[in-house]
Amino acid sequence: MPRDEARIAAFDVIRAVDERDSYANLLLPRILRDRGIRGRDAALATELAYGTLRGLGTYDAIIEMCSDRAPDPDVRDALRLGAHQLLRMRVPPHAAVGTTVDLVRLRVGPGAAKFANAVLRKIASRTIEEWVPIVAPDADTDPVGHLAVAHAHPRWIVSAFRDALGGDAELPDLLAADNARPLVTLVARPGRSSVKELEEAGATPGRYSPYAAYLREGDPGQIEAVAGTRAAVQDEASQLVALALTRVPLDDDDAAAHGGGERWLDMCAGPGGKAGLLDAIATHGDTAAGPDGFPGGARLLAADVQFHRARLVWQTTRHADVVTADGTEPAWRPGVFDRVMLDAPCTGLGALRRRPEARWRRDPSAVAELGRLQRRLLGTALDAVRPGGVVAYVTCSPHLAETRVVVGDVLARRGDAEQLDARAHLPEVDGLGDGPHAQFWPHRHGTDAMFLALIRKRRP
Ligand SMILES: C[S@@+](CC[C@H](N)C(=O)[O-])C[C@H]1O[C@@H](n2cnc3c(N)ncnc32)[C@H](O)[C@@H]1O
Repeated sequence: MPRDEARIAAFDVIRAVDERDSYANLLLPRILRDRGIRGRDAALATELAYGTLRGLGTYDAIIEMCSDRAPDPDVRDALRLGAHQLLRMRVPPHAAVGTTVDLVRLRVGPGAAKFANAVLRKIASRTIEEWVPIVAPDADTDPVGHLAVAHAHPRWIVSAFRDALGGDAELPDLLAADNARPLVTLVARPGRSSVKELEEAGATPGRYSPYAAYLREGDPGQIEAVAGTRAAVQDEASQLVALALTRVPLDDDDAAAHGGGERWLDMCAGPGGKAGLLDAIATHGDTAAGPDGFPGGARLLAADVQFHRARLVWQTTRHADVVTADGTEPAWRPGVFDRVMLDAPCTGLGALRRRPEARWRRDPSAVAELGRLQRRLLGTALDAVRPGGVVAYVTCSPHLAETRVVVGDVLARRGDAEQLDARAHLPEVDGLGDGPHAQFWPHRHGTDAMFLALIRKRRP
């Protein structure tokens, strides 16, 4: 019988994530390449590994209900893989059970295979719709607990999303969007590439950003513009928050100061997604915007505390100055920048679609720790900008403690800055919330849940 390479590859990824804290999105492509797994087998291995990792919480609850003892970690990982096939994929039950039992026999041993067979048969006796009411808390008395199991998210994350959304109504849609594979979005860096060039390579124009294009199939790395860093893979909300910063008119007595000669800072730039777009606009202007757009002629300084991440920024930008620097201990003089991008280190709860295992790794204690760093960085960002200039505070997390609360706390402590209505600088996008900040959502916009606050430093 031929070896089931796709399932073995998926199992090895799940084991490595469980046992060694590996990152599935880094490990899986390497395994597929090393083992020569391509085409449909590669697609199957990807769905098996990513789908299983996303659904861990739900599958574990069902496995526990079907087992008379706690399975060893390697058997549990195989059962998770089997549960995913039985409950969420259209794999016929006999094939899902048979292939998983074969896998356990191959990777663990014959005794464990017997146990796996018994557990999988019990799992197969019900559909996911039948299992959820059995293993999840009651939807009426504990809606958050229910959604956490039904949509395979940790409870604290569901709670945080509910707080950020301001209620339960959209939660199921948001959680479902988190479980769907995101569309690959490209950015055509202005002056260096164009959406038209990306269309010729098979992409279709984006919905909101004038520089975005969606790639529905194929490897973005094979596109010439991407290989040459003239274009890149970049979520559309990431593009829009960078664009919004460049669109804010500066508060100037001398209107001529807007445009040529501006100095921009990207304080947490690695690996360089936003810096790549800011660098292109700084140099060539907001080419899609016509005469009202930023005309170009600005200079970007991009910094990151980690040398290897600063190096990635250097590799992707053309004209920017790039330094390794700690934003909390600035290597630049205060009050010299016209525009500052602070894309702060955060929990990344807004990008759970991209890293299947990330939701199970994050720990709520990280929120408080990151909050302290976010406050310090926002303070130094406001010190770095000149009066009349503007800071963009961005997180790839909708968690209130990383977004509105950070901005509110920092502004309450200093009297020299005020929040602008960020939505006014994103007129092409609806549904960004009650303001003054802008909050993107996967289920509303098809983007990561990116947060943007625009803050003006007041003139004395
Ligand atoms: C959310 S990521 C930035 C993503 C980036 N702006 C992009 O679009 O590709 C946050 C970055 O902040 C950096 N960072 C963390 N602490 C920092 C500090 N004290 N000073 C400067 N950079 C820091 C991290 O190394 C990480 O690269």
